[in-house]
Amino acid sequence: MPTKLFDLKGRVALITGASRGIGEATARLLAEQGAHVVLSSRKQADLDAVAASIIADGGEASAIAAHQGDSDALAQLISAIDQRFGRLDILVNNAATNPHFGHISDTPMAMVDKTLQVNVKGYFELAALASKLMRRNGKGAIVNIASINGVKPGPMQGIYSITKAAVINMTKAYAMECAPWGIRVNAVLPGLTDTRFASALTTDDKMLAHFLPAIPLARVAQPQEIAPAVLYLVSDAASYVTGTTLAVDGGFLT
Ligand SMILES: NC(=O)c1ccc[n+]([C@@H]2O[C@H](COP(=O)([O-])OP(=O)(O)OC[C@H]3O[C@@H](n4cnc5c(N)ncnc54)[C@H](OP(=O)(O)O)[C@@H]3O)[C@@H](O)[C@H]2O)c1
Repeated sequence: MPTKLFDLKGRVALITGASRGIGEATARLLAEQGAHVVLSSRKQADLDAVAASIIADGGEASAIAAHQGDSDALAQLISAIDQRFGRLDILVNNAATNPHFGHISDTPMAMVDKTLQVNVKGYFELAALASKLMRRNGKGAIVNIASINGVKPGPMQGIYSITKAAVINMTKAYAMECAPWGIRVNAVLPGLTDTRFASALTTDDKMLAHFLPAIPLARVAQPQEIAPAVLYLVSDAASYVTGTTLAVDGGFLT
């Protein structure tokens, strides 16, 4: 008999940054496994297109736009989920920003603020709101998408790397304090992945010549190769896993 460990039927999953890239690939995979996926990012039209495509493939999806730096929008997002479903089983904190590429000492303070607000405060706030909703059912799973840069800072990506290190620590803090509520909290650390976010690196031959020799598998990941790690961590297959970080990085951190 096939395993039911990865079956998500009946579960409601919120995925931020789901209009493209790693978030979209994750939403499609969780929907394939039976979850109702609630897609979020800033642009409603882009989300509607992904939701329509998931539904056309036989999945269940809805789309609610919210800016990750806007506390009111995040509270409304969770409240809309509560009103419609009365529950939340899975949160994938994935939407992030990286506005400054350059020497760390040249980072404009406005960009420091923006990166901290979206990548740290946004994840923190959504995890706080989501965990309280999950607590009502006595269980839930949160996966924070961090980065290899959270362990080893990326060159010219100082403040972004700092926020990803904060996400790794945030994952452990939430895991400890939400375990008594039946909620598991883990992080995935993608390596260099072929998305719009990383296109300045993945489409530049000079950049690739710099990065590829440091990756034992010697290639960039596709977003569909990151999503299964998220599926594992939100599924019953990971029922005894909390507070951990799972690198999906072609061996970069080894
Ligand atoms: N690609 C890589 O090499 C790589 C490596 C390590 C970690 N990561 C991490 O993986 C995650 C996803 O990145 P990706 O590569 O899949 O990027 P992507 O393809 O550019 O997708 C980013 C998503 O986030 C949304 N978003 C951006 N800013 C937002 C905001 N302020 N509020 C709400 N939504 C926002 C975008 O939609 P809208 O623009 O419509 O809002 C989009 O849906 C990020 O946490 C990133 O740090 C990526």
